[in-house]
Amino acid sequence: MRCIALANQKGGVGKTTSTANLGACLALLGKKVLVIDLDPQANLSIHLGVNIYENNRSVYHLISGSCKPDEVISKTEIENLHIIPSNIDLAGAEIELVGIVGREIILKENLGNILERYDYVLIDCPPSLGLLTLNALTTANEIFIPLQTEFFALQGVSKLMETFEIVRKRLNHNLEISGIIPCMHAARTKLNQEVLEKIKNYFEDKVFKTIIRKNIKLSESPSYGKPIVTYEPASHGAEDYMALAKEVIARENRLGDTVTAPVDPSTQKVVPQQTDMHLEQCEQIEVNL
Ligand SMILES: Nc1ncnc2c1ncn2[C@@H]1O[C@H](COP(=O)(O)OP(=O)(O)OP(=O)(O)O)[C@@H](O)[C@H]1O
Ligand SMILES: [Mg+2]
Repeated sequence: MRCIALANQKGGVGKTTSTANLGACLALLGKKVLVIDLDPQANLSIHLGVNIYENNRSVYHLISGSCKPDEVISKTEIENLHIIPSNIDLAGAEIELVGIVGREIILKENLGNILERYDYVLIDCPPSLGLLTLNALTTANEIFIPLQTEFFALQGVSKLMETFEIVRKRLNHNLEISGIIPCMHAARTKLNQEVLEKIKNYFEDKVFKTIIRKNIKLSESPSYGKPIVTYEPASHGAEDYMALAKEVIARENRLGDTVTAPVDPSTQKVVPQQTDMHLEQCEQIEVNL
């Protein structure tokens, strides 16, 4: 079982679109997939056709302990693709959790061993590095970072890397950054190409070869409550996410070869990694372009 958090505190970069569509494609390729909507916006749940307004069996109810894992898992229109949906109550969960001991691992604890039933578990994180994202990072053993190949793509990446290192050091030693998904790419735009090159320079072979192109069908499909493969199977969006799913499966043996920044134990501060490009430089990309 691979449990992967799709995380980036930057909003609107393709976390939810990638979770829904990668999940659907993996399921169509015969894998047993569970997606978990850990965002109070509930975009993933809506995308996969869950009626969030009539739903009182959500990830919030799992976190708060009022439901067991089996009670909150729903089927989707795709066989082998299950979802633990979100609802708006989750917005209060971060506040409710603040006073609880072990608040960073409550999702993992309450899920118990249910994840073992699946080949892939994908967790859609909210656009923040708060307690919900921390819970995703303690439950998962991998992180995929969707990045939009636009001007501010790498702004904030150093903060995400810092959070990753702290979680890895203190809470989840097994956590790895195992994939960077370039999203919403317009190949003919010079800026998009330049940003993609910067992303590849920094993350090297962590960047998937599959690039998700900008595709209007991908932005239409959530309003029909369908993943792209059933909404418009002949679209570029369906083609790209199917290619990504195949690449994810094909890369399976390459785990453990990760991007990590060394931690100075005396200060517990993250020291920028000596690679082609320092994290600070990444943040300067928008200035340099
Ligand atoms: N490849 C694409 N082509 C066109 N539109 C896209 C593509 N990927 C995502 N979108 C659209 O861009 C918007 C943001 O995408 P998405 O919701 O997946 O981002 P997110 O990172 O989950 O956002 P948030 O941080 O708010 O959770 C959505 O309207 C989505 O339909
Ligand atoms: Mg989202």
